[in-house]
Amino acid sequence: MALVRATRILYREVLPQEFNKSSPMNALVTGASAGIGKEMVYLLAQRGYHVVMVARREEVMETMAQELPRGGTVIAMDLSRPGAAQELYNECIKRELTIDVLVNNAGFGRIKPHTEIEVERLEQMNQLNVNCLSSLCRLFGQDMKKRREGCILNVGSVVGYLPQPFGANYAASKAFVVSLTRALRAELRPYGIQVSLLNPGPTETEFGKVAQDNGDFEKGKPQVMSAAEVAEIGITGLFADHAEVIPGAYNQAIPFLVKLLPKSWVIRAVDSWMRSRLGEE
Ligand SMILES: NC(=O)c1ccc[n+]([C@@H]2O[C@H](COP(=O)([O-])OP(=O)(O)OC[C@H]3O[C@@H](n4cnc5c(N)ncnc54)[C@H](OP(=O)(O)O)[C@@H]3O)[C@@H](O)[C@H]2O)c1
Repeated sequence: MALVRATRILYREVLPQEFNKSSPMNALVTGASAGIGKEMVYLLAQRGYHVVMVARREEVMETMAQELPRGGTVIAMDLSRPGAAQELYNECIKRELTIDVLVNNAGFGRIKPHTEIEVERLEQMNQLNVNCLSSLCRLFGQDMKKRREGCILNVGSVVGYLPQPFGANYAASKAFVVSLTRALRAELRPYGIQVSLLNPGPTETEFGKVAQDNGDFEKGKPQVMSAAEVAEIGITGLFADHAEVIPGAYNQAIPFLVKLLPKSWVIRAVDSWMRSRLGEE
């Protein structure tokens, strides 16, 4: 078993760059135009993958594609629309792109009282963070299963381990990612598919600007890591076949504390921390 695993890891790490120069393997990254996803695009390209970039900002991705050693494929798409996952899958079939590595990274949050979040944004968040991610695992996972190989990296968050008042829907969407990914890892392992979860903590990206209109939540955020660091840890963890990757020692303590402490304490602590940061009564 260990030998099979080691061979697979070697195959996925070495084959794309060393042996398969004429026909590279393909990696698809959602949320490729900024932050963690953008850094992952460069890392996968360095490893020899042809990268399929998906996000809404087409121009940004076209510029990135020109910088990649093997070029890249740009698919500009709003993944928060119902049916987007199927459309993206169909587009890959149409372009004869076999996806060897799927990185479900696109996501956003809203940091404000749940009762004040625009309903439309709430539904888009669920569509992107939950429905699209799950459907892409379903669609590309089916093909990987037939080929008996493939890798899936889902990007969750450390808030997926705990309820987060004032980020309630976002944390709940990431709890879904944690649960789904753990289950899929077991379900797809017999078919040679590696499924990993990357749960970042605070990371310097555009996330804060999208999450809060005034961006105040970003200011003085503790233990912020760079997108490049987080991406590197995530991609390394995926190819090393790690089940769950949490970048940074501070963030790694979170699931441990959540398990150790009574639930009511954890929620109260997060609630008062969030209130103090947002200036809520
Ligand atoms: N930054 C953090 O502190 C942090 C912490 C934990 C987890 N995470 C998670 O890490 C992942 C990456 O976030 P990030 O921090 O790198 O944020 P980011 O800088 O805001 O990047 C988000 C990416 O997702 C894309 N995206 C957003 N909405 C989309 C839509 N409707 N359709 C298609 N693409 C869309 C964006 O591209 P376009 O705008 O061009 O569409 C962008 O490429 C997310 O899942 C996030 O929840 C972030």
